[in-house]
Amino acid sequence: MIQVESLTKTFRDKARGDRAVVDQVSFEVRDGEIFGLLGPNGAGKTTTLRMLATLLKPSAGRALVDGHDVTAEPAEVRRRIGFLSGDTGLYHRLTPRETLRIFGRLNRMEEDRLRDRIDEVISMLSMQEFADIKVDKLSTGMRQRVGLARTLLHDPPILILDEPTSGLDVPTARVIEEFIVSARKSGKCILYSTHVMEEAEFLCDRIAVIHEGHIRIIGTMGELKAVTGRERLREIFLELLDSGGMRKAAVV
Ligand SMILES: Nc1ncnc2c1ncn2[C@@H]1O[C@H](COP(=O)(O)OP(=O)(O)OP(=O)(O)O)[C@@H](O)[C@H]1O
Ligand SMILES: [Mg+2]
Repeated sequence: MIQVESLTKTFRDKARGDRAVVDQVSFEVRDGEIFGLLGPNGAGKTTTLRMLATLLKPSAGRALVDGHDVTAEPAEVRRRIGFLSGDTGLYHRLTPRETLRIFGRLNRMEEDRLRDRIDEVISMLSMQEFADIKVDKLSTGMRQRVGLARTLLHDPPILILDEPTSGLDVPTARVIEEFIVSARKSGKCILYSTHVMEEAEFLCDRIAVIHEGHIRIIGTMGELKAVTGRERLREIFLELLDSGGMRKAAVV
């Protein structure tokens, strides 16, 4: 599971001075749960996820991944997570299968196990048709699947996915959504960010809305509806942004 307590990231900005872009954020993601982090552009989603993935050092507060502190035990944390972000780099001259083989070896996976696991991941994400075509000839959606396959290769119990369906067509987004649902079924702890309200409504067990570095609300769809008196996530989301700092009612 993931436990986040008063996590804060301050950036030094010459023009604007020190700025907390993630400000005392607290939440928990349980095993077997899909937790959605929603927020407008610049809200602090990627910064939060990057701190959890040990790529960015928190300025204050703490975060535990399966009990391991992201600052004190980054290697333990990295072993347990699969992190997908929009800028997950891929080597253009390699095929998806070669990419996976290299990352598996870097992760010191045993060769027989690696070969089986690569086939498994390729089939899980419906990548059979393009598994042996060089990455530079693939479409955005295909590359996104290669990136996701890479993060899944070592079968981590915790998935941290930053806008995994961004820029994808409906059928490709569907492949990824179905994968996320099946990962939940196998007990994984899934934290992901998205701008797609319908997808969050459909996928998430709980949702947190973050705005200007602050969590505005956390709860199930039912709880969010009850607190805001609105039906659809899109309306709930807009209302929470409109109400500025007024509504901090956190339904946990
Ligand atoms: N390295 C950095 N130095 C200074 N400011 C930064 C840095 N990284 C991010 N920021 C600022 O932090 C704020 C939050 O950015 P972040 O990328 O976390 O937002 P986001 O919620 O992921 O937005 P989006 O939906 O556009 O991806 C933004 O104002 C951004 O400009
Ligand atoms: Mg982002």
